[in-house]
Amino acid sequence: MARTRIGVLASGRGSNLQSLIDASSEGRMDADVVIVISDVEKAQALVRARDAGIETRFVEPGRKRAHLSEEAEGVIIGTLDEYKVDLVCLAGFMRILSPQLVRRFKGRIMNIHPSLLPAFPGLKVQRKALEYGVKFSGCTVHFVDEGVDTGPIVIQAVVPVSEGDTEEVLAQRILKEEHRIYAEAVQLFGEGRLKIEGRVVHVLPERSGDAGSDKH
Ligand code: GRF
Repeated sequence: MARTRIGVLASGRGSNLQSLIDASSEGRMDADVVIVISDVEKAQALVRARDAGIETRFVEPGRKRAHLSEEAEGVIIGTLDEYKVDLVCLAGFMRILSPQLVRRFKGRIMNIHPSLLPAFPGLKVQRKALEYGVKFSGCTVHFVDEGVDTGPIVIQAVVPVSEGDTEEVLAQRILKEEHRIYAEAVQLFGEGRLKIEGRVVHVLPERSGDAGSDKH
């Protein structure tokens, strides 16, 4: 089976990127991170990538706050093409992608989000979950569509909220599950087992003795 080539977009700490790097090197995922792109020059994610011998690219994001300039998006698309990326993984990427970029990689961009979507999309969601008083939260890997945290859901993991949890404690408990399910979702993608039908992602059963994979 051909290994999936992943391009990761990250803006910060990069612990989810690290989880993908580790899953790849430990053989838990038949996929490799081949390029890491960041809109933040000093992002820890870039350091982690370089430490793992992975190519990196800093892309000057432009002057908009939540979006990227057209030029920046052009560089990102060019870089993902140059590295022949099968799947784009957003891992703490703090910019909203344009509809053009999303359409260009339709069905081939995933994101990890620290809540059980559709509850608590957006930012600071662990705090929002605590303030709302939910007893369970969790995390979601979803395909990226043109909205914010609205795309078809691939995998979710449920995490209990305990009495007295702080935002940091809950975030940490959720993060542990994020690191587990992101690699699982990538593996399912690589095995050609994710079928998107409208909003719903069907996870197809494992094909025994399967030697090939359908790349989307
Ligand atoms: C994670 O909680 C992820 O779910 C969210 O942003 C955070 C990024 O953390 N999208 P890291 O940079 O992967 O450590």
